[in-house]
Amino acid sequence: MEKKSKSDTADVLASQSDIPQHVAVIMDGNGRWAKSRGLPRIAGHRKGVERVRDLVTVCVEKGIKHLTLFAFSSENWRRPAQEVQLLMELFLSALENEIKKLHKNNVCFRVIGDITRFGEKLISRIRQAERLTQGNQALTLTIAANYGGRWDIAQACAQLARRALNGEIDPATITEASLEPFLSLADAPEPDLFIRTGGEQRISNFLLWQLAYTEMYFTPVLWPDFDRVQFEHALVSFAGRQRRFGLTGDQIEAARHA
Ligand code: FPP
Repeated sequence: MEKKSKSDTADVLASQSDIPQHVAVIMDGNGRWAKSRGLPRIAGHRKGVERVRDLVTVCVEKGIKHLTLFAFSSENWRRPAQEVQLLMELFLSALENEIKKLHKNNVCFRVIGDITRFGEKLISRIRQAERLTQGNQALTLTIAANYGGRWDIAQACAQLARRALNGEIDPATITEASLEPFLSLADAPEPDLFIRTGGEQRISNFLLWQLAYTEMYFTPVLWPDFDRVQFEHALVSFAGRQRRFGLTGDQIEAARHA
């Protein structure tokens, strides 16, 4: 498993790459994009699928190893029933249309979140797609669906508590590292770059634990307009930042020249 926490200067230096290993995205603004064109909201979501395709292509080209997308939050159930229904249909058709291409491009597909509320057909297609692509190495595309960061931490705590009850671990020895294996993204490095489109500047209960040291990039560009040029802007912004993980800039410079 890849090292997740930056515990010493060497780890911090190793993380100073211009290309992020893991990008996490909140794809916001589909509804506004559609509304401004007099179209139904679902037209914005449909356009959004095209941008997902672009992003996956750029990640594979650039050697970005993990892409995690917030497709449906636990709070999105509050949307009008018809929009929720159409979104589910869109996920299903996107999955059916894209999975072969993803597999051909060596992309590992998986879903995090509590998908038990999704229809049987969608759940079964998700599991099939995960099985088909599980050995792929170029990029891991993770879709967060009915996901919430607090839910993730709570379910990890529940698993840890169960082990404590069984006597497998002593609660007195629990550290941050004890919880990490039970989080949904346990086998991925923490995101290096977080992108939110659509103008809002908040995390909205996405990867709360994992975003502790992530570089944040907010843009007013609506998701259906977030094409590869926009993604390049985000990558350029990322490359220009110095990540310190609690160290001073002088410590990092000194280690770099040692
Ligand atoms: C937020 O825009 C977007 C969503 C809740 C859905 C995201 C879904 C997609 C991009 C399409 C499917 C994706 C996959 C992975 C198949 P919004 O509706 O909140 O926009 P608004 O803020 O302008 O109303």
